[in-house]
Amino acid sequence: MKICVIGTGYVGLTTGACLAYIGHDVICTDCDKEKIAGLRQGRLPIYEEHLPDVLAAGVQSRRLQFTSEIAAAIEAAEVIFVCVGTPPDRDGKANMAAVEQVTRQIAEVARGHKWVVGKSTVPVRTAERIEKTLRTYAHGRFTFGVISNPEFLREGTGIYDFFHPDRIIIGRDHAGAEACMRALYAPVLEGRFDCPAHGRPAQACGWRAPVWLATSTASAELIKHAANSFLSLKITYANAISDLCELAGANVEEVLRGIGLDPRIGPQFLRPGIGFGGFCFPKDLSAFHEIAAELGYDFRLLAEVQAMNDARPRQFIAKLRDALWVLDGKRVGVLGLAFKPGTDDIRLSPACVIVRELLRVGMRIRVYDPQAMERARRELLPPEGSAALEYCESGEAVAEQAEALLILTEWPQFLALDWAAMAARMTRLLVLDGRNLFPLGQLEAFGYEYISIGRPTNLAAVTLQPEVALPAGS
Ligand code: UGA
Repeated sequence: MKICVIGTGYVGLTTGACLAYIGHDVICTDCDKEKIAGLRQGRLPIYEEHLPDVLAAGVQSRRLQFTSEIAAAIEAAEVIFVCVGTPPDRDGKANMAAVEQVTRQIAEVARGHKWVVGKSTVPVRTAERIEKTLRTYAHGRFTFGVISNPEFLREGTGIYDFFHPDRIIIGRDHAGAEACMRALYAPVLEGRFDCPAHGRPAQACGWRAPVWLATSTASAELIKHAANSFLSLKITYANAISDLCELAGANVEEVLRGIGLDPRIGPQFLRPGIGFGGFCFPKDLSAFHEIAAELGYDFRLLAEVQAMNDARPRQFIAKLRDALWVLDGKRVGVLGLAFKPGTDDIRLSPACVIVRELLRVGMRIRVYDPQAMERARRELLPPEGSAALEYCESGEAVAEQAEALLILTEWPQFLALDWAAMAARMTRLLVLDGRNLFPLGQLEAFGYEYISIGRPTNLAAVTLQPEVALPAGS
């Protein structure tokens, strides 16, 4: 099929490259001319595992092209994917300016018949608005159908997720829309692809047929917001239990494993830490809250989740203050800036919130992240006048004269650092692990004082006591 993908961010680029990989002719377009020029020369704007290979395969087969001529891309396509950003407005609502602009561009240049597919995460009833806008500005020059096809790709595993989805949601209010999407996704639905994440045929790498769920466009749009908000809620629940464990002297890992074994709860997304971040959960949570309010529903549960998550970095800093007493002028080493491992994305990363706040209170920071250093240099702007942030070449280097090491992203590489050599470079042997990366006892063995989330600090507390022997004859 001939496809146009408008917007080459995480969603658009991954979707476009994967659609070309399964045999479609795809033209990706973006209003950022520099980005398109870079992509044409093979320069990727983001770090995403396996994306370079999938892109290269598409370019080589000539099934994947990049252009900044949006009109030409629209004209050539049967199916147009709208993958532009919906960033938060100042009041927390999703900013729909880019979606509207693209819709008007489609209305101006399209001819024949077009399927317009919304992939960006949008407030419910956006498809309705897209349809109205197309009708208003198309003046009958072409026929169209609007489809909502929310994406559930995770950054860092986006390529794997495209080929191994749990479900494909198609919101359609027009006859023919579902058949078009079935034809488009047929290779993924039937397992007819070589998995680029494993280099093996689908059946040999754990592929299972996804659930195909066709709904109204409004339901599809709600599914996306409701799914992300539920996952945010689940993480926040785990964080609350971790606070309670600290107060009660229990171990959050044991408690969450205990509840996650119930299949109705499940073990995933129950990892406590310094809070969820990234460009999806925080913005979707507030946009969902706002659209609910617009519709007349006070979804205060979501406001509470947001407030509790916003407090996580402050709670972590309070732990550091408790351990170091005075923060002003002291040196710490920071491991991790990305909002999660496997990505170079630092947008709304709790790690960056913590770094900025520590700089604001006068700390000196040496920092390292395996992927996010370049973006951090560009985007992590310390408070004005602060020259106390140093970027290091390795994880070990952040330990130099540090009074504490802070683990803020759970990169597995940090497990393999030379912790003995790092100890020798530090002023005080203290680690605050904001992601529970290490099992209890491992860093203590090097002499570190180790403080994590919701787990006992004092190892004696987790050592099992001998059973009390009952007196003979009792
Ligand atoms: C999320 C969803 O998982 C995807 O399904 C969705 O498609 C995507 O948003 C989107 O809307 O585009 P992503 O933002 O890439 O994907 O990241 P996640 O893996 O979901 O993690 C989000 C945040 O939650 C991270 O900061 C992570 O550290 C945190 N998290 C996750 C926890 O703190 N605890 C957990 O147990 C899990």
